[in-house]
Amino acid sequence: MPLKIYKDGGGNPIQFMEINGVRYPYVEGVDQDHVVQVAKEAKARDDDILLVTYAKSGTHWTWEIISMLCNGNAETVPTIKQMNMIEAISSDDLTSLASPRVLNTHFRFNDLPKDMVRKKTKIVLVHRNPKDVAVSHFHHHLKLKSLYNYNGTWSEWLPLFLEGNVDVNSWFDYVRDWEKAMEENPDYPIHLMYYEDMKEDLCREVKKLAGFLELPVSAELCQNIAKKCQFENMQKDKKGLENEFWTNVWVNKQPNFYRKGVVGDWKNYFTVAQNEQFDELYKQKMAGSKLNFRFEL
Ligand code: A3P
Repeated sequence: MPLKIYKDGGGNPIQFMEINGVRYPYVEGVDQDHVVQVAKEAKARDDDILLVTYAKSGTHWTWEIISMLCNGNAETVPTIKQMNMIEAISSDDLTSLASPRVLNTHFRFNDLPKDMVRKKTKIVLVHRNPKDVAVSHFHHHLKLKSLYNYNGTWSEWLPLFLEGNVDVNSWFDYVRDWEKAMEENPDYPIHLMYYEDMKEDLCREVKKLAGFLELPVSAELCQNIAKKCQFENMQKDKKGLENEFWTNVWVNKQPNFYRKGVVGDWKNYFTVAQNEQFDELYKQKMAGSKLNFRFEL
């Protein structure tokens, strides 16, 4: 099993599974290599929808919204998005999901199941500004003890993120990779959304999403979904839906997928020097990109 230990800036260890050069959270007792290879061979259905994100970019949030749009109501979905994550479930589980399947993944374009690419499965791609992604990711690593076995401070952890030594590897490479995929495949149906736009006006974004998915939903339903999926409502309504595995992996068995849900929490973590270092790296890595990230609203 390709379990790899990295050291943060303070020498504290953190563990990942590394499969074909990509890092994943380590799940004891699971042949993750096999699960990932099987996911890449998954068969697509005509009505599949694939939600694609870099970790901590709003996957749970958007998955809930797409599921509600498909269900045609604004009722809390009685399961969690992990149960529909192609690289985390078995092929039997994937096959047994009812249609239309709202699937999700952190894969890059070239890692997607070939059958989905061939059938041009509709993709909803959600991006979030990397400073807030970093803060969210730091808490994710701290709190998911049995996956990462990590204990360090923000300042010790940040170099891991800057170097891309985290799950899904470098945020910069990931968003650039998807930007390239969109440029090279202009006829592929990909709907790009930004977490910050969703925070700014969720109803507007839900309507645009419904249009992309070609779902004939009313303006009233979009409004109800936007309301039901506000952070505070989801934090309350999704409580207790985790299964045993997704409860036990959290420190003190307290699932915390819904942590703070704001734009700009990074300001509470980045020092002035860290922020300057980040901005410099951002400038280098994002040179020539047309992506437009907002770090505050
Ligand atoms: P924070 O840690 O900054 O709070 P993912 O689902 O991709 O793992 O992303 C998790 C991030 O999305 C967390 O960010 C989480 O709180 C936030 N989130 C979850 N539901 C949300 C909602 N309804 N509105 C806004 N943010 C939400």
